[in-house]
Amino acid sequence: MNTDIKEYYAQRAQEYEEIYRRPERRDDLLLMEREAAALFAGRDVLEIACGTGYWTRFIARSARSVVAMDCNPQVLGIAKAKEYGGRPVLFLESDAYTLSNVEGLFSGAFLGFWWSHIPKSRLRRFIETLHSRLADDARVAIFDNCYVEGNSTPISRTDAEGNTYQLRELKDGSSHEVLKNFPGEKDLRQQLRGRAQELVFRQWTYYWMAQYTVKGRRPLTLPSPPGEGEQETPLIPE
Ligand SMILES: C[S@@+](CC[C@H](N)C(=O)[O-])C[C@H]1O[C@@H](n2cnc3c(N)ncnc32)[C@H](O)[C@@H]1O
Repeated sequence: MNTDIKEYYAQRAQEYEEIYRRPERRDDLLLMEREAAALFAGRDVLEIACGTGYWTRFIARSARSVVAMDCNPQVLGIAKAKEYGGRPVLFLESDAYTLSNVEGLFSGAFLGFWWSHIPKSRLRRFIETLHSRLADDARVAIFDNCYVEGNSTPISRTDAEGNTYQLRELKDGSSHEVLKNFPGEKDLRQQLRGRAQELVFRQWTYYWMAQYTVKGRRPLTLPSPPGEGEQETPLIPE
């Protein structure tokens, strides 16, 4: 039984997007896709754990630029092969917990189905690392799953710090134990306390979304020489 999440998603890469074709989830997804396409208008967005680029396509419709990172070359290969309407999109292989080779200061961040995979003990540090790459007033959006009895993969166990796990099988017959948490609005507000302002939480049948503005970071707009007005700092040349 594999317990390594990176390995699990590497093996799942080719079948990953089947999850977005489940008919009962399409109504929710349509609403979320519209949200994603409008959320980051004019912003420079850092997308964490972008996978196959499913959400990157929607974000890129209105963002000024997108830097999309993931730890797996297998999913990045699929993402890179897609069309992004001529928008500046850069894919990077990196680790979400260090963001070691991610450069720049972003005015937006998107986390699609990644928050639920972060062990509770790593959440606070992860938020600090993410926010260190974001400007003051940057917008962050998080999409993730609700636990739906009879539809979600059952929870197989809960560990000492309260993380829940699922047993999943891939088409090649391989078995995987995957850490998958199902936080609610109260958990989110607690986990982001002191780091987020204007937090809005929305929930559909199968998914939830949290959106907030970063609190206490540097402004994106740099001071400019007297008489020249304000100068912006684009992250990827258009
Ligand atoms: C549930 S998928 C989400 C993919 C995409 N965001 C989406 O919503 O379709 C989780 C992704 O996290 C990536 N991942 C796992 N561990 C990671 C890490 N430490 N750093 C960066 N990405 C990671 C996996 O490769 C996988 O693509």
